[in-house]
Amino acid sequence: MSSPTQKKQEKREDDIFLDSKLRPSKWAEYIGQKQIKDNLHILLEAARGRNQPPEHILFYGPPGLGKTTLAHLIAHETGRQMKVTSGPAIEKVGDLASILTNLSPGDILFIDEIHRLNKMVEEILYPAMESGSLDIIIGKGPSARTIQLDLPPFTLVAATTRIALLSSPLRSRFSGGVFRLEFYTDEEIKEIARRSLSILGTEHTLEDDALEEIARRSRFTPRTANYLIKRVRDFAQVHKKSLSKKTVHEALSLLGIDELGLSSSDRKVLETIIDKFDGGPVGLKTIAAATAEEEATIEEVTEPYLIQLGLLERTAKGRVATQKAYDHLGFDYPENKDSNEC
Ligand code: ADE
Repeated sequence: MSSPTQKKQEKREDDIFLDSKLRPSKWAEYIGQKQIKDNLHILLEAARGRNQPPEHILFYGPPGLGKTTLAHLIAHETGRQMKVTSGPAIEKVGDLASILTNLSPGDILFIDEIHRLNKMVEEILYPAMESGSLDIIIGKGPSARTIQLDLPPFTLVAATTRIALLSSPLRSRFSGGVFRLEFYTDEEIKEIARRSLSILGTEHTLEDDALEEIARRSRFTPRTANYLIKRVRDFAQVHKKSLSKKTVHEALSLLGIDELGLSSSDRKVLETIIDKFDGGPVGLKTIAAATAEEEATIEEVTEPYLIQLGLLERTAKGRVATQKAYDHLGFDYPENKDSNEC
């Protein structure tokens, strides 16, 4: 019999397994982001024609929009091996040197959260990206000298949720392109949810209005859509219910996700701005302190969605809740609010 810890572990592994099953493995399965896909096709096809590795590529945008999936697709479609790491995992210059010297010719190196690389590591990356060489300083003081190692040709594919934190020398070395992933449309999210559901192979089919309900609450984000699909499926299974709009409503209410897809922490941020700071403008640090939420989470996860929905505005003076936010949360919008702000 498995212990509670083992069960937890199995559950986590089950979820990870499901997530990788839902990840598209061919371009044709990857829905949306058309402009990025079109550009990547040209880039990869041209590199293939010249028999060279594709140039370095950077993806940025809010979490869950498919940056890692695109990296996997690039590796899969070009038949290359991909080594995966992340900014926080590369602590020392030696860590990066070891990764780079262990690459095979033509490999793809994927660095997630590249904005979290430290400055010294970043500086080793410049010559590696530009001229395929690793400059290592040996010794200290007057006797220090630099030795240069030739690296196998490789392609760096990197991802970040915080493009503004990337230095411009690093950004400019992504000669293959810097691509911003956009939020998905409701139609695209519905297509992704439909595909995920067919992979998960549930007993019941999801009714169309139920699919629409999931799409509406998915933050225009495939990862969220897949998460909601799994939770709704669990709920329907446990309560022996069909996958109807009502079941979706019940399952998502239990998760604290409202009709606009806002979580309790999204609502807390908006409520705090309205209730404690008269709707703003108020700075990010103050909001983080007042809500006990992480600044980075507010900036990377909460705000992009609230802005996309038109519930929040970022102004030079700080964050401002819109009238739509007041209406959604049931607060009265002060009559003199707009004239006060001028
Ligand atoms: N899963 C995550 N992102 C996806 C996408 N863009 N298309 C299909 N399935 C996905």
